[in-house]
Formats: sequence, structure tokens, C-alpha cells
Amino acid sequence: MAKGKTSTVYFCQSCGYESPKWMGQCPGCREWNTFVEETVEKKSTAKVHERRAAGGPVCLSSIETKEEDRVTTRMQELDRVLGGGIVPGSLVLVGGDPGIGKSTLLLQVCQKLADDGHEVLYISGEESLKQIKLRAERIGQFSDKLRLFCETNLELIGDTIRNNKPEVVIIDSIQTMYNEDVSSAPGSVSQVRESTSVLMQLAKGLGISIFIVGHVTKEGTVAGPRVLEHMVDTVLYFEGDRHASYRILRAVKNRFGSTNEIGVFEMRESGLAEVENPSQFMLNGRPEEASGSIVACSMEGTRPILLEIQALVARSQLAMPRRTAAGMDYNRVNLLLAVLEKRLNLHLSGSDVYVNIAGGIRINEPAIDLGVVLAIVSSSRDQAIDEKVLAFGEVGLSGEVRAVSQAAQRVQEAKKLGFTTVILPEVCREQIGDVKGVRLIGVRSVGDAVRAIS
Ligand code: TYD
Ligand code: MG
Repeated sequence: MAKGKTSTVYFCQSCGYESPKWMGQCPGCREWNTFVEETVEKKSTAKVHERRAAGGPVCLSSIETKEEDRVTTRMQELDRVLGGGIVPGSLVLVGGDPGIGKSTLLLQVCQKLADDGHEVLYISGEESLKQIKLRAERIGQFSDKLRLFCETNLELIGDTIRNNKPEVVIIDSIQTMYNEDVSSAPGSVSQVRESTSVLMQLAKGLGISIFIVGHVTKEGTVAGPRVLEHMVDTVLYFEGDRHASYRILRAVKNRFGSTNEIGVFEMRESGLAEVENPSQFMLNGRPEEASGSIVACSMEGTRPILLEIQALVARSQLAMPRRTAAGMDYNRVNLLLAVLEKRLNLHLSGSDVYVNIAGGIRINEPAIDLGVVLAIVSSSRDQAIDEKVLAFGEVGLSGEVRAVSQAAQRVQEAKKLGFTTVILPEVCREQIGDVKGVRLIGVRSVGDAVRAIS
């Protein structure tokens, strides 16, 4: 292959920022000492442009689409996060901490797809065939439709894919792959970027769906390249507490579906099992008759999930009381504390306040505000809230309780799990009307809500 013009540039290994000269601090992500010199060749991009232009523009009506385009993985949790199954020709990035279960998840996807008669190719640059076999033995039986290949050279991988024409390919992981045309080491920004662009051309050109595993840095983004996230169609993050058994699959980008959806799995001896009722799972092990605990409801995509919110208010020994928030935004907790102080005259300036969402899940929805407020009040008064009470609603700065979306669905989920009383924004209660078997208490302010639990 003729070599094109090469030049050296400096890439930030943390975010992929490109600069013609070395810099101490990256202007992109503000990290220090992350710039590494890499050589890049100009020719490859030019080639892509030539090829693209060859087709010429077309009008929308001349493009054919098929209805039943998507391939189901027979894992409902994954299908939902993908937006209804795998889209042929799509490039999906699966990121997550090492050891969280990415390889296990994708091997199980391979197993199900192969069982359904799809040709699947699992390419590993991290483990030997024997290691994969050991993992596979824990998971179960595999059909011969699944082929394994241990390789890191992308040119060979490309040839193999072109010869075998599988329907789905797994690349485990992108950080181990290398392209001979690029002189920098595997895992560097230009390697990862170049490898992804090769894979993208394979996926789009042959209509093969490719899943790429990507490791995550300690800051929580896919190692090296933000660039990579722009190139792929879908970005999924696999997260969870390593010490807890559940894992959550979250879409952070999806060209073919919503990014709000989550899939919940449980890591077992025999691999990952789908959790069909996450609410029940999250509420396992709830303490009885404990102050500072209440259940709230958050919508994760189309699904309501019930969670236990815990608060502990304790007299502080420090000049500056301690405040922590696990599972939710720290500033949000401070804001809610200020609302309580101002609107309810609840003096917390001499107390440490700890807020925790049990189970280690992270929630960003403001609908849990009311639950957080009530948990704090309950703990500061040391009065337990009836365990059959659930609360949701957004709290505003004036102490007002504001409407949230899909209130009826949240109430239904509460009812399904045996809750008998739901405290919710008054506006939502008016919309919903009466629900059999559940007492709905509409509140306009945090004051109303606190009176409802007293
Ligand atoms: P793995 O899929 O190798 O993680 P990743 O590819 O994200 O680095 O996950 C490995 C972890 O999962 C390891 O700690 C062992 C555990 N595990 C189980 O608990 N049960 C199983 O059946 C399997 C295959 C793995
Ligand atoms: Mg792995």
C-alpha cells in the first residue's frame, strides 16, 4: 500500500483533542500532561471521500427500508435499550469499567443470536480461546453458528469478516486493536480512531452489525476518545456497583431509539440474568420501621422504577457540617436542604446530612425531590414513615411541589408493588382522579407533604 503524507500531531489521550504542538494542559478537558505525539497519515481520509462521492446524491423516496429490519437479541432488557433490537449495519459501542461484565453480556448475546440461526463472529484481543471457552462453559450451551477468533490486527480481521460475512461481529476490545498503517501503539487516540473508522466502513459497507467493547477511564468516559462516541451509532454504558450483583445498561447515544431507556441485569454464577421487575429488586432488604427512609419513583425511559431513599441527619461535631449525596446530585441535596431551612424552619445548619439512594443506582430525575425532602424530615424528627407510603414530585425553590410527567404510570407501579398511599403533586392528582386500592394525597407544598406524613 502506498504511504501517504505523514505528519506528527499531539493528541490528548483523555479526550482526543488534537493539537499541532505539545501542551501541558488540554484546552478540551483541562487534564494535565495528557498530550502524546502520534503520526497520522493524510491519505485515508481522502480515500473515504472519493468512495462516498461515487454514489451521488439520491432522493428520499428512492431509498428502500424494510419494516422488520431489526434483529432481536431475545434479551428484552438489551433490545429495549437498543430501541427494539439490533439494526443491521449499525456500530454499537459498549463501554464500562473493567470486570463489570461487558464480555459476559456480549457472549450471551452471541449465544442467543447463534441459537436463532444468525451467523456470529466474536473477535477477542484480550482473551485466549481457552479463556473464552471457560467463560462460555459457565454460561451454557453454544451453537456452532458462533465462531471465535483471537486477533488484534485489523487488516486480518477485515479480511476474515469479508470472507465469512457474519451478521453480527463483536470486537472485544477496541483498545487492543491495531492498524498497521498507524504507527502509534494500540489504545492510543489515533489507533482507536482509525480502527473504529475501519470497522465503520465494514459495518456500513457489508450491512453487518458490529458491537465494540471500550474500556472506561477513571473519569467514567470511554478511554481515549470522545471522538469514538461521535463515530458510532449507539453508545451503551454498562454500569453498577462491583460489589452489588445488579448491572445497569444505559444508552447515552442512540441514532435508532431513545436514550432514556435502561436495562437491568443481575450477575449470577451462570452469567447475566435479566431483571424483569427492577422495582422489586431495588427494594429488596428495606429496613422496617426505620426513620429517614421512604420510597420514591423515578421514570427511567418508559419504565417507572421504585427506589428507597435514605437520609441520616445527625448532630455535627464539625464547624462545617458534613453533607453527602450518594446516587444523586450533591448540589440538588444542598438546594433541598436550603428549601427546608427557609420554608419549614427546619434548622439543619448544626447537623450532618447524608442522603443515599439504596442499591447504588444513580438517579437524575427531579421527581425524587419530594422523597428526599421527606426522608430528611423523617430522620431529623426520628419518626419513621409508614412503609406503605410512596412519594414523588419535584420541589421548587419556593417550597412548591411541581408536577412531574407520567404520574399515572408511577402510581400504577406503586400499586403493583403493594403501596397503599401515594403522596404526589396536587396537579397530578387532579389529572389522575381516583385509583382503586391506593389513597392519593395531592400536595401543593413541602409543608403539605410533611403534614401528610406526620
Ligand atoms: P467480564 O465479562 O470479564 O467483564 P469485562 O469484559 O467488562 O471486563 O466480567 C467478569 C466478571 O464477572 C468477573 O469478575 C466474574 C464475573 N462473572 C460472574 O460472576 N458470573 C459469570 O457467569 C461470569 C462469566 C462472570
Ligand atoms: Mg472483557
